[in-house]
Amino acid sequence: MIRLGILLSGRGSNFIAIADNIARGALAAEIAVVISNRPEAPGVAAAQSRGLRTLIMPSKGPSLQKLSREEHDRRVAAALAEAEVELVILAGYMRLLSPWFVRQFPERILNIHPSLLPAFPGLDAQRQALEYGVKVSGCTVHFVDENLDHGPIILQKAVPVLSSDDEHSLAARILVQEHIAYSEAISLVASGHYRLEGRRVLFETDIAGNAPQPDNSTPPGRL
Ligand code: GRF
Repeated sequence: MIRLGILLSGRGSNFIAIADNIARGALAAEIAVVISNRPEAPGVAAAQSRGLRTLIMPSKGPSLQKLSREEHDRRVAAALAEAEVELVILAGYMRLLSPWFVRQFPERILNIHPSLLPAFPGLDAQRQALEYGVKVSGCTVHFVDENLDHGPIILQKAVPVLSSDDEHSLAARILVQEHIAYSEAISLVASGHYRLEGRRVLFETDIAGNAPQPDNSTPPGRL
């Protein structure tokens, strides 16, 4: 069973969706550790209440002011190694990763972003999409490389942008798809039935011909 290390900073709804899918047998994985850089993150309480190994590793504070990004990341990487983590899952982790950290886990760090990348990277992706006027947005699960919201795309799910949307209603509709997409992507990566060709993540058919394929279908919209 693949061992996941979850990094989060906030609400933790993606983490909870992954944990729920594992608990009901829909995702073959185990959560080895949950690490938050923010002690007050609701995701921390959710992890603790599930009895998961939960670590608070703040990146700011009076005694930590001299810690560089890489020094902090080295501590996080040591905690992940200690928990024998095989796949690092960024679930609303509001910190840029150092290049050093990314190099420790080649093709082993996943992120989810609430837009159809490469459109609208960075903060407030849902608001960016709304203000730009796109008619379709969605979410993207991708491998993490050294650039923000940039690595090879594992899967995407599209959602319609409605005339009645504000950024909250759009974010909520995208979030429903995020909670499905992240577990699917973890499952695809854990299966090992893929290869990278440049930026393209290509899914292979296994010998039995039943390798998982991503479901990028668009849910029905309404006018
Ligand atoms: C999600 O919208 C995710 O796409 C983005 O950060 C948000 C985290 O939400 N990277 P949650 O903490 O998982 O609820």
